[in-house]
Amino acid sequence: MRRRSFIASLLALPGSGWRVYLQNVTETEATVCWDASMFGAAGVECDGRYFAAGVPGRARITGLAAGTEYLYRVGPVEASFRTAGVGVTPFLVIGDTGTGSAEQSALAGRLVRERAAFLLHTGDVAYPTGQAEAYRERYVDYYHSLMARTPFFPCPGNHDYYETDAEPYFAFHDLPGAGVPAAERGRYYSFDWGDATVVSIDSNAPLEDPARRAVMLDWLDRVLGASTRFWRVVFFHHPPMAAGPNEGDVLTELARRHLVPMLERHRVPLVFNGHEHSYQRSVPVGPGEATYFTTGGGGAPLYPVGASPLVARGVTANHYLRCAVNGYRLDVAAVGLDGLAFDSVTLRPQPMVRAVVNGASFGARIGRGSPVSVFGWQLGLPGSREVSVRGLEVLAVTPGQINALLPAGLVGRVRLEVSTPNGRAETEIEVVPVAPALFAGSGVRSGGVLRVYATGMDGYGGTVGARVNGVEIGCRLLAGPVAGVQIVELPAVEGELVIFAGGERSNAITV
Ligand SMILES: [Fe+2]
Repeated sequence: MRRRSFIASLLALPGSGWRVYLQNVTETEATVCWDASMFGAAGVECDGRYFAAGVPGRARITGLAAGTEYLYRVGPVEASFRTAGVGVTPFLVIGDTGTGSAEQSALAGRLVRERAAFLLHTGDVAYPTGQAEAYRERYVDYYHSLMARTPFFPCPGNHDYYETDAEPYFAFHDLPGAGVPAAERGRYYSFDWGDATVVSIDSNAPLEDPARRAVMLDWLDRVLGASTRFWRVVFFHHPPMAAGPNEGDVLTELARRHLVPMLERHRVPLVFNGHEHSYQRSVPVGPGEATYFTTGGGGAPLYPVGASPLVARGVTANHYLRCAVNGYRLDVAAVGLDGLAFDSVTLRPQPMVRAVVNGASFGARIGRGSPVSVFGWQLGLPGSREVSVRGLEVLAVTPGQINALLPAGLVGRVRLEVSTPNGRAETEIEVVPVAPALFAGSGVRSGGVLRVYATGMDGYGGTVGARVNGVEIGCRLLAGPVAGVQIVELPAVEGELVIFAGGERSNAITV
């Protein structure tokens, strides 16, 4: 560390030159990092326990409770942090910071007064070439008071990659690795916090190399498909929807061509980028009506905002973003050097329906009085009572799936209307008079008799046939425990069961 910045760092934290920063805070764990080359602590005290450093300057704290404040001590530094948990989640976003400018310093002074669950850094953490000492002098020296209590989750920028494959960037950070291919761990990752799944993508080497890109896109597809949170927030350095001097960059073009279609396929509502040294908010883009925020004004020299129909608001200004996930809404404010918000929006993504299927068989045939499963995006907060499907009894709600029961007697083309606090989505389904369907794994044995739940035969008065392993067996239909559900009673046999009613065949289940 140069003498001048060392003296500055002493001034920044009175009585100590220690630099401590949190990483990878989850519901139950957190990593505390410190500069082992300068300070030789052997571990961290937290929650009345001692956690030894696994590697010099880094200790993983485990066994914590979600949504809880913890005090920790490493060397002479005492600080606190909060684990991930439910409820309103304030967070910060900043990018293109690490030049050591007066503007970076001024924004750092603003940020330290913020109370946030975490901070997302949209890349170019350390200029000019991402060298190891720059992560001390132009990153942790500026933000350590915040970093000691608020975990930073970054994505790498092009400047972070100018040093051998971004090695100092990866050495400095300890980022989530679960589910990420071993060779790419740290470059891209995801984490859940409250009602959000946050995904960090590396729009540098893993995007540029076709083989690595395929691996990353496959991972991204799985992460977005598996998210159970209402909000899916994605961030990476190169901004596909921004206008300015970098809009024609090779990596920006690759992001446009390969990342955007994947984000649109999963209807991701919110994306953060950097690289253009300005503030830009996009118009709603694509079938998911996503909003792209480009936040590249964290301290590097500013760029003009180009003219583009994709840009709803563009301002050449140093700034950071103050955001909050709050149930069905997410607030974003761009805060300038003067501490005032110069742009504020609230996102309320509409529910979107992808498919409606038979709730028992997950097939396309839906019979009278059946339970149905509505698949889509932003369908509701888990267990929300504010979600309705007009005319249907709602049984269960998650962001990606609503289970509901069709009323008895409704047959033919039926319009389904999903309503949430954010809006409505409509779709049409065809309800046929009879479409028998069986619930997998629903058999109940008693004596020599097997009882299986069936649907799609509401009001049906004809005969029901059954086959196990292709062999006809006798069965009878009984009233079910709830409306729309019948019981098929048959001999306690084993194998693949199919039933027939009204000329229709059910799905097969194993009994
Ligand atoms: Fe950049």
